[in-house]
Amino acid sequence: MTSEPISREQLERELAFYRTEYNEVGARLLRLQEEQSRTAREARRSRTVARLIREAYRIADQQMPAELLGEPLLAVIADTSVCDRAVFLREEIGRPGNFIIEQAIGASVGATVCLNPVPAFLYTTSVQSARPEASALAALIGVPFILWAYEPISQRALLLGNSTESNIHRPFEASDQELVDGALAVYIDVLLKKRAEAALHQAKTAAEEASDARAAFLAALSHELTTPLNAIIGFSELLLSGNEHGEAKRVDFLRQILDAGRGLHAMIKDILDFSSFSNKVPLLRLDWTPISTLLRAAVRACSTGSHAKGITVDVLPLSPDFQVYLDYDKFRQIMSNLLGNAIKFTGSGGRICLSSEMTAECGVSLVVKDTGIGIETQDIPRVTEPFVQVGGQHGSKLGAGLGLPIAKQLTEAHGGQLLVASVFGEGTTVTVLLPRGSARRS
Ligand SMILES: Nc1ncnc2c1ncn2[C@@H]1O[C@H](COP(=O)(O)OP(=O)(O)OP(=O)(O)O)[C@@H](O)[C@H]1O
Ligand SMILES: [Mg+2]
Repeated sequence: MTSEPISREQLERELAFYRTEYNEVGARLLRLQEEQSRTAREARRSRTVARLIREAYRIADQQMPAELLGEPLLAVIADTSVCDRAVFLREEIGRPGNFIIEQAIGASVGATVCLNPVPAFLYTTSVQSARPEASALAALIGVPFILWAYEPISQRALLLGNSTESNIHRPFEASDQELVDGALAVYIDVLLKKRAEAALHQAKTAAEEASDARAAFLAALSHELTTPLNAIIGFSELLLSGNEHGEAKRVDFLRQILDAGRGLHAMIKDILDFSSFSNKVPLLRLDWTPISTLLRAAVRACSTGSHAKGITVDVLPLSPDFQVYLDYDKFRQIMSNLLGNAIKFTGSGGRICLSSEMTAECGVSLVVKDTGIGIETQDIPRVTEPFVQVGGQHGSKLGAGLGLPIAKQLTEAHGGQLLVASVFGEGTTVTVLLPRGSARRS
């Protein structure tokens, strides 16, 4: 058998066929390779997210306040996502679109940017032209390639950045949304968890403090109540015992009973006042009063105490036409509590100075300044809280710790503010500020 010679045309057809086959195989191979690298990328991204979640919860378990949490988390994000900038941003309250950097790696904390509109997801590459929001974000962290995710409910955002595309294993791309959304969600979740823990801890401490303060108050109160009651009972028994006491002794016993009764009455009135003010704003009977009349009356009312301790009380000269719009009785109570404290916490030979002036827009500032024992700086914020008495053995446990809280409540009912300033060992200055329009010249 002789084989037919293959014609040139046939050879060319076969060649064309194999060429097409070859190209198709090549294209299929390329598709397979692409598929493989996409799967590898997806696997890597899933591993990154998994590692992020693991690291984030490990960090969250550490005894670390919520504010310090961001940076180690960013370090993990920057490391796993191979980028050289990573920042968490917070949208400012009441200023939609204004973001401030709260935590940062490779950028400045506190830097701000304004976005309008705010994209939920955004990234830049060298082949696509950047939107204005992307340019603003790139300028914020000083690199051209960025990846951004925003979570509108918690108003927080994550921004990653790179200075070049080639220094990373690949450019940012659309499928990175899963990564940045995931990282941001983990951060917010951990932040909320930390915040909830902190709030719980704070509530527990506050409850413990309140219960300590209540226990201390009850102990102080029972002491304060039993001391004058014992005096009343003891002196009354002495008077009734039938023993002959001279007239002078009898008068002395009666005076002691009267003093103890008055002290008790004042304390019970304070406690009742405080609890009634705590429940509702006290009703004020406002009228114009010359401030000089008010201050002189207040000084007169506590002159027994200041004389007994040899304390000088000065009232700085006040123009008689300087009038203040206030509730006279309630203000007498404020002044009596402040002057009472100044006398109680100032040693003999000390000085107390009362002054008042009209401030801008006809407000009033009224100052009670003493040269007494003073209050330690860390205790100052606490002294206007009910039942708080400070100063250790230097202080006085006389009273219930309600004078300042009552003065504060009454001042605030007038729309004012009560400010305490003090230098420990040198003296205390309490200022009552009344709002504009509270003063006039008659
Ligand atoms: N002028 C002052 N100088 C030094 N410490 C003061 C002065 N005023 C108040 N304090 C401190 O603040 C605490 C609270 O004052 P506050 O007037 O509320 O209570 P109190 O004087 O102890 O008792 P109360 O006023 O109920 O009789 C005082 O116990 C004292 O430790
Ligand atoms: Mg007091």
